[in-house]
This record gives sequence, C-alpha cells and structure tokens, in this order.
Amino acid sequence: MIKMYPFRNAVTVSHMLLEPYAQKARVLVDMTSGNGHDTAFLARLMPDDAVLYAFDIQACAVEKTKARLREEGLDGKDVRCRCGSHDVLLEEVQPDVDVIVFNLGYLPSGDHSIHTNCEITLKAVKIGLNKIAKNGIIMIAAYPGTEAGDREEKALHSFLQTIPQKDFHVSSWQPVNEVHCPPLLYIVQKRGKRHYEEIPLHQD
Ligand SMILES: C[S@@+](CC[C@H](N)C(=O)[O-])C[C@H]1O[C@@H](n2cnc3c(N)ncnc32)[C@H](O)[C@@H]1O
Repeated sequence: MIKMYPFRNAVTVSHMLLEPYAQKARVLVDMTSGNGHDTAFLARLMPDDAVLYAFDIQACAVEKTKARLREEGLDGKDVRCRCGSHDVLLEEVQPDVDVIVFNLGYLPSGDHSIHTNCEITLKAVKIGLNKIAKNGIIMIAAYPGTEAGDREEKALHSFLQTIPQKDFHVSSWQPVNEVHCPPLLYIVQKRGKRHYEEIPLHQD
C-alpha cells in the first residue's frame, strides 16, 4: 500500500522523501534521536539486515528512543542507540552510509536550552559528506524560529551553497504561507552516474 504523507512540515516531507531510500539502505544514522520518532520511522522501513545508529547528546533522549523502539515492536531490528555528540560518534561509523538524518533544535519535551550547536552541526555535516555512499542522502530539518536555530540555519545554508555541484545535489524545501518561522528542509545527495532511473544505493 502506498503511504500518502502530508506536506505539513519539514519532518513529514523528509519522511516522504526518505521512504524509498530507507527501504534499500544498509547503514543509516539518526544524528539526533530525541524522542525516537525519526529513529522508529527509519527502523520500521529498513531491511532486516540493515544497521541503524541513533545518537543523542542527552541520556534521557536515548532512553526515550529505546522505549519507543520497544513500544513499536522494533527491538528485533539492529538499532544501536548511543549517547554522545554526533560529530564524535559519526566518526566511528563505517564509510558508505546510505541515510543520515539531522532533526536539529531542542528536545520538545525536554530542556530547551540544550539546542544543537551551530559549529558542531557544521562539523558533523562535513563528516557526513565524507561518509555518505553514492546516491545516499543527508536530510537536515533546521528550525530558524529561535535565536540559536536562526544562526544555525543561516550558517548551514551558507555552507551548503559551497558544496561542489559536481559531487552533490543540494536542495531545500520550505513552506511559503506560514505566519511563524517554520522549519526548513535541506536535502543533500551524493551524486552517482545514473540519472532518471531507479538508482540502487552504493552504485553509479
Ligand atoms: C528536535 S530534537 C530531535 C527529535 C527526534 N529526531 C525525534 O524524532 O523525536 C533535537 C535533539 O538533538 C539533540 N542534540 C543536540 N545537540 C546534539 C549533539 N551535539 N549530538 C547529538 N544530539 C544532539 C538534542 O538532545 C535533542 O534531543
């Protein structure tokens, strides 16, 4: 059955775009597992022999992620939840990662002062560019509605503009009629040679 995703916000659109990639992925990374919604989404879709790393800097978020996976009956999947900063933890992941997801900002139900850090986010994205497989995707939801989030989004946008076009497709999605400052989505794909046809991950 084809699932219809609403064009509601950066996260729903990211899930819609990620679905075919997650279904074929061998290695996935959720860089900010938080309450575990994105981790559970990826774990549900990924093949049984795939591995998903889920990182968060807060121990309470790691516990929430583990609990969500249990509640959703996803404990059979190979999900490796780790507590720490994603720039450090991503370095330890093998190369050729198929899917990397950043959902920036703060934990909605938690301490809002623990926000993703602009400099660390840029460092982690750069590591991701070196780890991502051909045709793999780095998906970034950024939240410019707070001071820290605005600074982070602007820095991210400036950096993403400098990524060489010959190596990566970089695009974005944003709502246009929202009265507040809605989250934006950035999509980075490492280029392979094939275009306009089904692209198996890891291949040209
Ligand atoms: C918007 S929440 C993530 C929501 C989550 N993806 C979900 O589906 O529930 C952002 C998360 O980033 C985490 N975070 C902030 N800085 C981090 C860092 N340097 N490394 C890893 N996680 C970080 C926060 O603790 C918070 O849980």
